[in-house]
Amino acid sequence: MSIHVVIGYGPAGAATARLLAGQGHSVRVVTRSGRRPEPGIEHVAADAADSARLTGIARGAVAIHGCAAPPYHRWAAQWPQLAASMGAAAEATGAVLVVLGNLYGYGPVDRPMTEDLPLAATGPKGRARAAVWEQVRTLHEEGRIRAVEVRASDFFGPGVTDGGHLASRVVPRLLRGRSVSVLGDPDAPHSWTYLPDVAAALVEAAGAEQAWGRAWHVPTAPAQSARQMVGRLAAEAGTGPVAVRRTPPAVLGAASLFSPLIRELREIRYQFDRPFVVDSSAYESAFAVHATPLDEQIRATVAWWREHGVP
Ligand SMILES: NC(=O)c1ccc[n+]([C@@H]2O[C@H](COP(=O)([O-])OP(=O)(O)OC[C@H]3O[C@@H](n4cnc5c(N)ncnc54)[C@H](OP(=O)(O)O)[C@@H]3O)[C@@H](O)[C@H]2O)c1
Repeated sequence: MSIHVVIGYGPAGAATARLLAGQGHSVRVVTRSGRRPEPGIEHVAADAADSARLTGIARGAVAIHGCAAPPYHRWAAQWPQLAASMGAAAEATGAVLVVLGNLYGYGPVDRPMTEDLPLAATGPKGRARAAVWEQVRTLHEEGRIRAVEVRASDFFGPGVTDGGHLASRVVPRLLRGRSVSVLGDPDAPHSWTYLPDVAAALVEAAGAEQAWGRAWHVPTAPAQSARQMVGRLAAEAGTGPVAVRRTPPAVLGAASLFSPLIRELREIRYQFDRPFVVDSSAYESAFAVHATPLDEQIRATVAWWREHGVP
């Protein structure tokens, strides 16, 4: 059994750390705030952007799983240092660096996204994410580290809460049979990546040499509109039909006066106003992890929210 470092303990970091611990690995989780230990998981309080500190924590590890992100409105300023630190720790320790990425780097496109699309985003957040991989890939191509990026669409599933679009703001309401509002066009096809599949792909890519040196899309079920997903969740919950509305632009405009996060959403509105579809067939034909069937995702998500979130 091996030592793995997981940076970040948001939904993805937690799911990855628990999957690894469940497989019998020894896991060190790095967050600035730290936590009490869990079975098989040691929590270390440290800033992962501090390369000397991260390198010390990663000594002896086979892999570093990068599952943290700076605050949403600080990506352009803070991602370069975090990416540089992960790269330096991977170089100093020989651990494989697995970066959890997203689809922002492609920018708006008019077809399903495949990994060979150029990282053509022009907005600050899209550029920041593209630069993370460009920085890490350069180190890999120079032979200084072994690295892979695993890109997910918007997270969905058990454990996804405030950072998800079909999560805290939507599922508890629909479980009570109340109407929900969503960002953008409720009928635009959208890819939702199931959180347990994210963790499974990160772990698989870390151990699969043929995965290294390029980016892959996490296995993701066929795209569904927000209205279709809400309909499936409501059917599973037995609440009867639930109305789905677009969040009015005036409400978003007012909220953006107070919330930097909502202000930042402007850059990615295209992801919700038109089809936003990921093609994960390359990963699924090369590796063992496949997208969890949608019915199973829906069942597990309703069960999770019943247990954790709905009074
Ligand atoms: N949410 C989605 O739908 C989605 C979809 C695709 C990809 N992604 C990407 O997947 C990654 C993980 O996302 P997530 O939603 O699971 O988590 P997240 O909310 O983006 O990450 C927060 C975690 O990272 C830690 N963290 C932040 N800065 C840190 C630093 N400098 N050093 C150490 N720890 C740090 C935080 O703990 P402390 O505050 O205690 O440090 C917290 O545990 C992110 O890169 C995200 O952009 C997310």
